[in-house]
Amino acid sequence: MKIKTCVFPVAGLGKRFLPATKSIPKEMLVVVDKPLIQYAVEEARAAGFERFIFVTSQGKSAIEDHFDANLRLMQELERRGALAELEKLRDLSLEAGQAIYVRQPAPLGLGHAVLCARDLIEEDAFGVILADDLVLAEQPCMAQMVDAYEHADGNMVGVMEVQPDQTQHYGVLDFQEEGHGAKKIDARGIVEKPKTGTAPSRMAVVGRYILRRSTFDFLENQTADAGGEIQLTSALAAMIQSFGLTGFVYGGQRFDCGMKSGWMSANLAFGFRNPELRATLQKTWSELCASR
Ligand code: G1P
Repeated sequence: MKIKTCVFPVAGLGKRFLPATKSIPKEMLVVVDKPLIQYAVEEARAAGFERFIFVTSQGKSAIEDHFDANLRLMQELERRGALAELEKLRDLSLEAGQAIYVRQPAPLGLGHAVLCARDLIEEDAFGVILADDLVLAEQPCMAQMVDAYEHADGNMVGVMEVQPDQTQHYGVLDFQEEGHGAKKIDARGIVEKPKTGTAPSRMAVVGRYILRRSTFDFLENQTADAGGEIQLTSALAAMIQSFGLTGFVYGGQRFDCGMKSGWMSANLAFGFRNPELRATLQKTWSELCASR
């Protein structure tokens, strides 16, 4: 089965980055020289996806502008002979019809955001990438998942092992631990942000999903949680009996760019891999470590 469509829920407020995100979307925060949403789209392209659905909200138009061709800028770069920069812009623009923008009319949670894409997806399965979760990996995370999904017929979530005091921030899998060490985990349950000490395991969901189309039917029937949000996790839990749920332990390092600490670490990690920046970063880092 070819999975062609990826959904990017980008309607979130970006509270943790205020005031930086007062007038720019948090998905436009830059790691080295690209906004988070561009990393997400590049990851989806590397997985072979061809349609990109952005679930947006008020104040997110910078994302739309980012993926349009900026003809004036391109002409000017050409006139100045800035060919390397021009190439970066050419690589970036999406082709006509590839980018689809749909609004989430109110902040009703991740599950509701995904549901907003329902009428735009016809295939049996589609991907979801949360741009906040940036993964540094030799083979991009979603491509690893698509390869692993080939023979599965249920839902799949990217997972990583976290410390016990961190499980409260994630969707967490319930599974038979004896298969420990396997890349694919057959989940028998999933819970959203369990209270400390109550998590069924330490396998936490990162923002990568391959979902069956029927997920929409389950999302539609979910009631909102105490915070008034419809959780994607609740629909995945409700689907386990009939469709199954696979946790995929991806290879790579994940940065939670929804938090300042994760975003700054991502800048360091991606910066260190950039030959132009490495020496300067190393020098600054040593100086900082040596100073009090
Ligand atoms: C969302 C999901 C959660 C998942 C997390 C990954 O939570 O609801 O299950 O583990 O993304 O980043 P959020 O971080 O949006 O609150």
